[in-house]
Amino acid sequence: MIGLFDRLVRPFLHALDPEDAHRLAIRMLQFAPLPLPPGDDPRLAMRVFGLNFPNPIGMAAGFDKNAEVPDALFRAGFGFVEVGTITPLPQPGNPRPRLFRLDADDGVINRLGFNSQGADAAIRRLAARAQFGGVVGVNVGANKDSPDRSADYVRLIERFAAVASYITVNISSPNTPGLRNMQQAAVLDDLLARVIDARERVAPHAGPTPVLLKIAPDLSLPDLDDVVGIARSRRVDGMIVGNTTLARPARLRETERAKEAGGLSGRPLLALANRMLAETYVRVEGVFPLIGAGGIDSGASALTKIRAGASLIQIYSGLVFRGLRLIPDIKAELLAALARDQQSSLVDYVGADAASTTAEEWPA
Ligand SMILES: Cc1cc2nc3c(=O)[nH]c(=O)nc-3n(C[C@H](O)[C@H](O)[C@H](O)COP(=O)(O)O)c2cc1C
Repeated sequence: MIGLFDRLVRPFLHALDPEDAHRLAIRMLQFAPLPLPPGDDPRLAMRVFGLNFPNPIGMAAGFDKNAEVPDALFRAGFGFVEVGTITPLPQPGNPRPRLFRLDADDGVINRLGFNSQGADAAIRRLAARAQFGGVVGVNVGANKDSPDRSADYVRLIERFAAVASYITVNISSPNTPGLRNMQQAAVLDDLLARVIDARERVAPHAGPTPVLLKIAPDLSLPDLDDVVGIARSRRVDGMIVGNTTLARPARLRETERAKEAGGLSGRPLLALANRMLAETYVRVEGVFPLIGAGGIDSGASALTKIRAGASLIQIYSGLVFRGLRLIPDIKAELLAALARDQQSSLVDYVGADAASTTAEEWPA
């Protein structure tokens, strides 16, 4: 079924404007649900943040921004789904066009700017599907015009804790002016203190909700020192490394498209994202786990991500170019690696190459 979908539908989607194609893909997942996938091999299971994942492959934030299709995505084989970014109030995001495919590079540039239907709509949908289970993370962000962005995050934690398996504090989108300034030490320390306090406050009725911090791959290493130090001292449950990059690697072939403003994702991001993941991993010293995102488009790149420090991985752009087939392909490759190395779990791969990755030349 996934093969059929990929062969027939993907070429058609590719011919459309990228944002129309995305809208149609969501509609198709909503109204033509895939059959239940076969159960995952138990060797792919991971226990992370106190949650059980049948496999380590997650849908990254930004695809299902409004929590419309988490269950359809589970049917595609994902081990977890992160919905969002969700802002407190509805907002339209930036004017179109704001999403661009770099076909020759297998890359994507977006400057969507947190287009969101707002918290109420997402909470309603998540509450309605709560009985179906599965790990559904909620990625939250501030409204562009908010007078107090930190207060937006606190409010979103309070509201989503009861319906989210985990919550991601997203301060790394390049498309909301000034948002990434929240990664600065003093601002971040205050934000995380308030966010964790809000989580504790609602825990008696909402249950324990892990809080993760999603960072940009463009932080300098001294800034990363600060961010990890604060994340550790404020006791976040994990980090996601990372979001899209403002950088434009020199080897990009789509030089005209590459001039579009926005965050770059997909294959051109892989080397930088892996490096930042490894740099984060060595600084975290095992205090909390990491989710690795950026440029995964094959089983081999998924394993590289895990070896650089990821306990779980997330993909988005790879699906645009490889289709849903990418999910079973990654699972097969991970299982082949386990068989080859006579391992019974992925745990021993996590971070195995982190130290050596940080010793390499900085990715160009
Ligand atoms: C079109 C698009 C929209 C995105 N929207 C969000 C978002 O709303 N929130 C967020 O945290 N990340 C967002 N991302 C970033 C992805 O979650 C992911 O971190 C990044 O794309 C790197 O992974 P990839 O190379 O597999 O795409 C978006 C990415 C794309 C391509």
